[in-house]
Amino acid sequence: MTENIVNYEIQIFDSIAEIAVYFSDFLKSNVELAKNNFSLVLSGGSTPKPVYKYLAEQNKNKLDWNKINFFWGDERCVPPDDVESNYKMAFDSLLNKINITKENIFRIQGENDPYTEAKRYGDVVSKNVISLNGLPRFDFMMLGLGEDGHVASIFPDRLNLFSEDEICKVSIHPTTKQKRITLTGKVINNAENIIFIVTGENKSKVLNDILISHEDSIKYPASYVKPTNGRLIWLLDKAAAKKLNL
Ligand code: 6PG
Repeated sequence: MTENIVNYEIQIFDSIAEIAVYFSDFLKSNVELAKNNFSLVLSGGSTPKPVYKYLAEQNKNKLDWNKINFFWGDERCVPPDDVESNYKMAFDSLLNKINITKENIFRIQGENDPYTEAKRYGDVVSKNVISLNGLPRFDFMMLGLGEDGHVASIFPDRLNLFSEDEICKVSIHPTTKQKRITLTGKVINNAENIIFIVTGENKSKVLNDILISHEDSIKYPASYVKPTNGRLIWLLDKAAAKKLNL
């Protein structure tokens, strides 16, 4: 069986603060080079919060923010002012601090009926993101990594979301049973730059399983993140990279 070798880059930093500096420079240089609007998919959870804060503080007036269209990789099915909302986290840490028009913000409406919203958001993405090979092609796809190896809201019991043709689907958190809206695997893999930001020793085992030992890696959704024609970049802090023996 031919091993599907995935080319990826790993950068290891002392801290999330250093990751934020690197990511900010990387984003800024790519946005400046972009001929048209730049499509950025924000990840949720807690890891990216310091990165978003740094982006706002460091580039407040240094980046043409209205060149960026903001999207989300997934959203919890809660209202936008709910503490669980990925939109709220991004709004409070970044969007509320920069000069951006609401036309550039493509929020997943977590307050809507999940199935209706999955369809609506898929249509919004189709209309507002260039496509390649019949799928939306985002310029930057930010991802976090769950301890169970999930990405966006593609959990280990929903690996079928990597073979889905729909852009966006409803998912359910395996323990909390919270409904989520998530981009599907083919859309994630169609991005030009897929950028994982992973920190903390609690992620070191799953990272080693996925990147090095491949032990049980077939059960982790992150193992299926393989850019079809783009770059896969892992930005890690030392704690998360602890078991990588690089
Ligand atoms: C979410 C995220 C999810 C997250 C990982 C890591 O909605 O929770 O999209 O995929 O990135 O669970 O979360 P932490 O950054 O909080 O560890």
